[in-house]
Amino acid sequence: MTTTTPAYVGSELNRVEGLDKVTGRARYAFEYSPQDLAYAVPVQATVARGEILAVDVDAVLKHPGVIAAVWYGNAPRLAPADNAELSVLQSSRVAYRGQYVAVVVAETLQDAREAAESVRVEYAAEPHDVGLRTDHPGLYRPDHVNPNFPTDTEQGEPDAALAAAQIVVDATYTTPAEHNNPMEPHATVAAWDDDGLTLYDSTQGASLVRDTVASLFGMPPGNVRVVSPHVGGGFGSKGAPHPHVVLAALAAKQTGRPVKLAVTRQQMFAVTGYRTPTIQRVRLGADADGRLTAIVHEAFEQSSTIREFAEQTTVPTRMMYAAPARRTTHRLVRLDVPTPTWMRAPGETPGMFALESALDELAIACGLDPIELRVRNEPDVEPESGLPFSSRNLIACLREGARRFGWAGRDPAPGIRREGRMLVGTGVASSTYPVYRSPSRASARAEPDGRFTVRIAATDIGTGARTVLTQIAADTLRAPAERVRVEIGDSTLPTASLAGGSMGTASWGTAVVRACEALLDDLDRRGAEVPDGGVEASADTSEEIRTQQRFARHAFGAQFAEVGVDVDTGETRVLRLLGVFAAGRIVNPKTARSQFIGGMTMGLSMALLEESVMDREFGDYLNHDFAQYHVASCADVPAIEALWVEEDDPHLNPMGSKGIGEIGIVGTAAAIANAVHHATGVRIRDLPIRLDRLVG
Ligand code: MOS
Repeated sequence: MTTTTPAYVGSELNRVEGLDKVTGRARYAFEYSPQDLAYAVPVQATVARGEILAVDVDAVLKHPGVIAAVWYGNAPRLAPADNAELSVLQSSRVAYRGQYVAVVVAETLQDAREAAESVRVEYAAEPHDVGLRTDHPGLYRPDHVNPNFPTDTEQGEPDAALAAAQIVVDATYTTPAEHNNPMEPHATVAAWDDDGLTLYDSTQGASLVRDTVASLFGMPPGNVRVVSPHVGGGFGSKGAPHPHVVLAALAAKQTGRPVKLAVTRQQMFAVTGYRTPTIQRVRLGADADGRLTAIVHEAFEQSSTIREFAEQTTVPTRMMYAAPARRTTHRLVRLDVPTPTWMRAPGETPGMFALESALDELAIACGLDPIELRVRNEPDVEPESGLPFSSRNLIACLREGARRFGWAGRDPAPGIRREGRMLVGTGVASSTYPVYRSPSRASARAEPDGRFTVRIAATDIGTGARTVLTQIAADTLRAPAERVRVEIGDSTLPTASLAGGSMGTASWGTAVVRACEALLDDLDRRGAEVPDGGVEASADTSEEIRTQQRFARHAFGAQFAEVGVDVDTGETRVLRLLGVFAAGRIVNPKTARSQFIGGMTMGLSMALLEESVMDREFGDYLNHDFAQYHVASCADVPAIEALWVEEDDPHLNPMGSKGIGEIGIVGTAAAIANAVHHATGVRIRDLPIRLDRLVG
């Protein structure tokens, strides 16, 4: 890598596509309109479990403008899928309410929508089971949890250690189902031609959509092109293709017309994923000084009957704090519910709500400051693996946060600070997220006129990926950023990992650096003259990542919250939020700050508002829009600040960066719940922190 001081990495370069976005030039999936376009509107199951007996296609075809109505009875057959969710219209079974059972294609969106609403589907309904509970007879131990962690771990003798502990916390926490709800709903435009299929898709990973869809339609990956230059958020729900992508491709194939399919906000609540509800029991044993002797964390979660999605809820507990005896477990039950998926920091977000709430309860039981408790349990090496940390600056974050927040001199007594109608309190919690990096390819090209083009099938879901890759490329090429053009968002570009797992910058950045270095080497050999037609070099980081040294690599953070709770109504307002993070080198402070405060806002939203409520009778989540599913708005977040501590970690990647997309949400809900306890003396262990739970 280059050893000169970086000029762009670390600077606040504005978003390179900013002007395109504010002027409306940036095109999103639904805005692509190939010639001869038709519109597809899906039909969703109205039973939670059963058999589809018949669909009256002839009646649908009588509607004006209708071109086709496709269901199991007349759909083309697809190749088997690893993810049974994607075997759309391939079975007569209904696995959950809201599952796609048919699709109507028509000349206009209005025609398609009206006809879809008229479709009569005859079902043989069966009794459904949609309730997650810890005594469910169907609970089982999955082989592993996402993405590939052991399901259970155990060290020492946790039961004996708990029995012998001077102080024990034993508490059960629950988090509800939560739906991702990015600003831009999912949408796909599918067009077939002699070369195969083109998809304009709102996705976090064009290469993955290409490979998945190609396999379903029995084609080589090269016959599918996925175009996604701009994506309006995903938060995990666009990490892998959902059934609508297949439905759009199938409808286009069946009708011989390009087809546009937008998933409506209402439909999203069944078909584009959500965070599993969790029930978590945490037991902590400690000596009188607050040193942990045992940590036991057990999680209960759900998945659908057609696909196992096993969230890694207790995995962060394996690396957060030192304790000689420990156990973590996951149990899953397959219900007649939609399939959960990734939602911002899957695992860490609900898991750390439970662990960091329990730590607060332990601090109170020990009569210790909650920051001091965490300092006393700081491990020297990663607790369960014994690996050294590449860097771990949790304590630096807690200390810097305490200083900035004004933590010193805090009276720990709960329920005694009154300001007008409000009881006021403060809380703290730790944050963490693993540092992942996936193999990617990139190419870099020099033109005789001094311009460079870097190509990689990366995705910018609003994070600033295109901008930070421009910074990284410009520094490596030692060229002004204006002369470097980064092309992303198209599966015909060099294959790249998805925008997920907070690993985009690390994964793509490594490939971009290596491609740019290879280009410079090539130019050196040529005596720096760029021939007519340009010079191109490429890189593949598979080997570099496969052979990297083993370390425990994680980002850390500390979250501080001040809340006011109305003494009569229980209305909770977050008065201040402060997050201090240790995430390696920050590539772009401006876009990084947006990532952190965006995550923290989602954490506030999780703490106070977000809750998908299961309707046991109909077997479906009741909320289907923002009138019923509440998310935090600007007015809910009066004062929010994100900072970071300097962290120089040589064991990461050429940029020295850790991922920042997800850590902002982790720990926020616990900090707020801990502050609510400090304000009121009421411990809320079930999210969200609703009025009825405070005043009940
Ligand atoms: Mo993130 S939930 O890995 O897109």
